[in-house]
Amino acid sequence: MGATAMPRHRLVCVRRLPPAVAARARAEYDAVLFDDRDIGREESLELLAGRGAEALLFSSGFALDAAYIAALPDSVRVAATCSVGFDHVDVVAAKARGLVVTNTPDVLTGCTADLAFSLLLAAARRLPEADRMMRQDAWGPRSMGDFLGTRVWGKTLGIIGMGRIGRAVARRARGFDMRVLYHDVAPLPPALEEGAHHVPDLAELLRRSQFVSLHCPLLPSTRHLLNRETLALLPPGAIVVNAARGGLIEEAALIEALREGRLAAAGLDVFEGEPRFDRRFIDLPNVALAPHIGSGTVETRDAMGFRCLDNIAAVLADHPAIDPLWS
Ligand code: DGY
Repeated sequence: MGATAMPRHRLVCVRRLPPAVAARARAEYDAVLFDDRDIGREESLELLAGRGAEALLFSSGFALDAAYIAALPDSVRVAATCSVGFDHVDVVAAKARGLVVTNTPDVLTGCTADLAFSLLLAAARRLPEADRMMRQDAWGPRSMGDFLGTRVWGKTLGIIGMGRIGRAVARRARGFDMRVLYHDVAPLPPALEEGAHHVPDLAELLRRSQFVSLHCPLLPSTRHLLNRETLALLPPGAIVVNAARGGLIEEAALIEALREGRLAAAGLDVFEGEPRFDRRFIDLPNVALAPHIGSGTVETRDAMGFRCLDNIAAVLADHPAIDPLWS
């Protein structure tokens, strides 16, 4: 007589997954996921209830808010977000419901820092404009004074939020001979500072930074941290990079500063209402735009998906989660 197969745990994945992650989800779980579309809020609740699912896999575009948490069927024990940021999660409501929520720290640090630094370089050296010019076959005679960007090496970079990604950006900046300042709630132990100097006062950091790169979480206290007033503290011709969360910047004020030429340029991977974004950015030649692709490499997205599956497996095996949002 053959051994009876153990029933597999039931999982609903609301986002399309990279092929390797989807294959593993299907092999290890009784999984609901689609290769050609995402699953919306109502449909996901119906699927979770209809299947008696124990786990949900989601990501930063999907709000795990109080209303959604209240509507979850009792069967759901763990929700794994495929992101390090968790501003889309109502932590208080999840805790109160006894839901375990996990994220994916560490695995996306390097690629997100690479993208932030790419945006810094692209904005400083006017790569989007150069690329457009080539495609339009508009490379004509030019004087030595045309098409000049901003030198990167030797300049001062101010990093706001010196967590894993901020520190990885500081390491990259060191390779470009930049001076690095950082602002965070407290100074890091010197071994973690990556040669950067802590500046307790945000205004002072802004006054001293020719480049500023945001790497802090979006919280009520950090929303619109760069606004009309704080942007005005940057030296003329400064460059702003945001690969963290769109809500950290008051976009109307940023657009104004870019239009007026008070800022030389910006590199943006995130937007306040994404995937919609302020169309006025399109008309600004001095902005490098990207559609939230900081973690978007094959290797990193696979690692993030696998980390979600590992977290779910741990919780459903009654072990502690690997990356709980709280403990
Ligand atoms: C993250 O992991 O938080 C990235 O921004 C992707 O959402």
